Amino acid sequence: MAEVLVGKASEFKSRDRKVVVALGREVGVFRLGTKFYAWENRCAHAGGPVCQGRIMSRVEEIMDADKRSLGQRFSRTRVNIVCPWHGYEYDIRTGCHQGNPEVRLKPVKVRQEGGLVYLVL
Ligand code: FES
Repeated sequence: MAEVLVGKASEFKSRDRKVVVALGREVGVFRLGTKFYAWENRCAHAGGPVCQGRIMSRVEEIMDADKRSLGQRFSRTRVNIVCPWHGYEYDIRTGCHQGNPEVRLKPVKVRQEGGLVYLVL
């Protein structure tokens, strides 16, 4: 196991990312709030560069008590990455596809120490 320095935590704003090549693996490193998440830059659908896609709040359907749609809104808590090839959306915190949680991105361990962010490969 090896650690690879990604950079200073302060270089990332919340909802920011960097795509790096570390030990031959392309990895997307994301910051949400104070936490970091890292995923291999390979979409579970057809291998597209998912970590280079658009970062956006999840779209949620608003339902009434009878399960009728009242419209849609952007989530205040859930943030997705959208694969640029065909639009699969994955939760940045879990790596799960928003419609099928069994479709997942491959995680990479990430840790912070002394204001620095490392990948553990
Ligand atoms: S390769 Fe990502 S959605 Fe198809």
